[in-house]
Amino acid sequence: MKEISLVLLGFGSANRTLAQMLLDKSEKDNSCRQCLRVVAPGGTSTSELVPWKVVCIITRRHGRVCVPHSSKSEINVEEALERIGAGGILDATLVRNTNEATTSTAHSTTTDDTIKLLNELGKTQTANIVVEAIPSNPKSDGEPAISFIRTALQAGMHVASANKCPLTHTRNDKETYFELQGIAKRNGKIYLHESAVMDGVPIFSFWDNLPGVTCTKIRGLLNSTSTMILSRIEGNIDKVVESDGKVEHVGETFEEALEAAKKVGIVEEDESLDIDGWDAAMKLRALCVFLSSSGNLSLPEDHDVIVPPLEAIPRDSISQIDPELICTEFRASRKKVRSVASAELVDLPSDPAIGRHHPVKSWKMSVENEFLSQSDPLYNLNGSSASVQFSTDVMGPISVVSQDPTLMDTAYGLFADVVRIASQSINNT
Ligand SMILES: NC(=O)c1ccc[n+]([C@@H]2O[C@H](COP(=O)([O-])OP(=O)(O)OC[C@H]3O[C@@H](n4cnc5c(N)ncnc54)[C@H](OP(=O)(O)O)[C@@H]3O)[C@@H](O)[C@H]2O)c1
Repeated sequence: MKEISLVLLGFGSANRTLAQMLLDKSEKDNSCRQCLRVVAPGGTSTSELVPWKVVCIITRRHGRVCVPHSSKSEINVEEALERIGAGGILDATLVRNTNEATTSTAHSTTTDDTIKLLNELGKTQTANIVVEAIPSNPKSDGEPAISFIRTALQAGMHVASANKCPLTHTRNDKETYFELQGIAKRNGKIYLHESAVMDGVPIFSFWDNLPGVTCTKIRGLLNSTSTMILSRIEGNIDKVVESDGKVEHVGETFEEALEAAKKVGIVEEDESLDIDGWDAAMKLRALCVFLSSSGNLSLPEDHDVIVPPLEAIPRDSISQIDPELICTEFRASRKKVRSVASAELVDLPSDPAIGRHHPVKSWKMSVENEFLSQSDPLYNLNGSSASVQFSTDVMGPISVVSQDPTLMDTAYGLFADVVRIASQSINNT
């Protein structure tokens, strides 16, 4: 890849922060006005400066702008950020270095418009990486994100995506994730999704460095909003007071804590995704699906691995927890409540009655409100912090903690994917 030509699919919190990060981390030298430093594959210390540009930005209701196909022009990213920040609309005036008409500008974009655009951008080699960051749609079919990723890969572009749906949904009982990775492989393209779980923490690429290891258990706090709400309800729990024999709650109410989380910008458009455990269940399933994909779980080949569907994962809602119970439990036993996502790889024996003729492994998953003791590695997590612990067949549990992540963490996950794609295709066009 001699030049990175990006399509920003969605220009909301995640992709706008990414755009600013690309500008901030750009380097230049005599031959390169705006470049990213890319390390050659294989862990050598050789690095190269690769020029980058944005050739298309697509939103749903805030306009879209793409350079003419196969042209050398690019979009003025600084101005696009300013325009959207000021409540404006993306349009053809954002294209630099061209007298030609842009391919397409319009205020609203339908799914069909986007599919057509992605096809053209890929097939004309106008773009080579699509950064997909549109809202997740877990309660439905995960569309249109899944179709956008499929189209981009089929049209010959790499994909970096922040979306959990492609990792959690199934189509005709087949994992969508395996289908998309299959398309990527057949087309010689790369599909990465690091920021879908724990933002910028390399929770997926982590496994590249653990060859032959089987993950047997996952346990963590995967949803920042619920941890923030619960820790704000606790308030300064050490100062809990008792009056007339009754324990008084000293933290925020559920509604106050939810409002505070919204102000930080971490609550999903549909807040029930956070509150009712959907988001944590999706992230858990995404990890299980990934770990069950070929090469990530070193099991003998006749062991199929079952990952039950999203709807089958038992989920507690944090709105069910009584704030007074939080105080009384803490006073009695110093325990704190958190929404804990857990998965364990269990054996299912053969059962010819249901057509299972050999033993299989299955992930047993749940998202539960748990009262944690002080010795629990998740005990001290507050605010938007997230953590996950992996148990494996060969090593003691490995814990990863992300302390108070912000949108910069999410954007870094996408940034790292773009650099990784460029690095792995450095010798290709
Ligand atoms: N924000 C986070 O902290 C975070 C962390 C990790 C992962 N993620 C994931 O990243 C993704 C994006 O999150 P975000 O916070 O950036 O969302 P956001 O602020 O709501 O932005 C979404 C963007 O996607 C556009 N869009 C929506 N539907 C579209 C469609 N059908 N076609 C084209 N564009 C469309 C929106 O356009 P309009 O504004 O015009 O509607 C907007 O520009 C989600 O999947 C989320 O789960 C987010």
